Amino acid sequence: MIAVDTFQTYLQNKIAYIEENLIPALEKQGVPSSLYESMKYSLMAGGKRLRPMLVLAVLEALDKPIERGIPFAVALEMIHTYSLIHDDLPAMDDDDLRRGKPTNHKVYGEATAILAGDALLTRAFSHIAEAYQVHSDVSPATIVGLIAELGKRAGAKGMVGGQMADIEGETKQLNLEQLEFIHQHKTGDLLIAALRGGGYLAEASEAQMDALTRYGVCIGLAFQIQDDILNVEGDAAELGKAVGSDADRQKATYPSLLGLAESKARLVSLIEEAKKALVDAGIEHSALSPLADYVRNRNK
Ligand code: IPE
Ligand code: IPE
Ligand code: MG
Ligand code: MG
Repeated sequence: MIAVDTFQTYLQNKIAYIEENLIPALEKQGVPSSLYESMKYSLMAGGKRLRPMLVLAVLEALDKPIERGIPFAVALEMIHTYSLIHDDLPAMDDDDLRRGKPTNHKVYGEATAILAGDALLTRAFSHIAEAYQVHSDVSPATIVGLIAELGKRAGAKGMVGGQMADIEGETKQLNLEQLEFIHQHKTGDLLIAALRGGGYLAEASEAQMDALTRYGVCIGLAFQIQDDILNVEGDAAELGKAVGSDADRQKATYPSLLGLAESKARLVSLIEEAKKALVDAGIEHSALSPLADYVRNRNK
């Protein structure tokens, strides 16, 4: 079991390792400098790096070299960053602050922000294809599996579909099922992609893959419940983004539907369920266990 202070060091080390691999994955040569700067600005603006961290944690849990996960981890962070740039646009959530800095469109303008998002999304896929082609211990079948997983979870049936439902649900009275659909897709799917992608790379068994997916479903939902709770009672300076905006936009959220107390209780039970999945896969002593607690306890 990893102690809390050791876990903090674990997080810091992993963030540093992930970040040193982000910039080299961006293409610079032949890219208009404003586009490159805008992509780099959001990619390097900070953030918890949770999705890439999960990829590496799965490899670690299954005793495989974490370096094998880096191209996929970096690609996921690019897609996540693109989703944040677009999510903040005036046509979507119209936010001014992200990761403690002015949002991309505030700095570079809307057109460049849209294009930077497009370019991060497409680069994610070409980076996976290019980086793994020279990786002797990742088979072509695994590369295709990674691309298929990421395309599915990031696309219309995944994150983008969740974003659509989230926008359409604004000002509507949603029921719990509709709310869970939004949460599962807009937030859960990229987390699930991280876990399953890590599973493919670590040559996980079918049972382990199933457990990783169940863990992902639970922490995905939990992550967004905590995001909604922090939007009510978090601290904007610490969060690095606005609070109170869900209520302003009359968004259906867990706290608005169930109240804060019940939302927190649901959070606790989801984290317990996530940990049960780890026990089923025999990886409960890995960093995936404190990472589940981190999803619940985070204040940024
Ligand atoms: C924020 O994601 C958007 C959601 C999916 C809720 P994170 O909270 O992981 O954002 P960063 O990467 O740490 O900035
Ligand atoms: C963002 O969800 C989800 C994605 C970007 C896919 P929210 O709009 O609820 O998250 P924040 O509060 O802006 O980070
Ligand atoms: Mg949004
Ligand atoms: Mg938003």
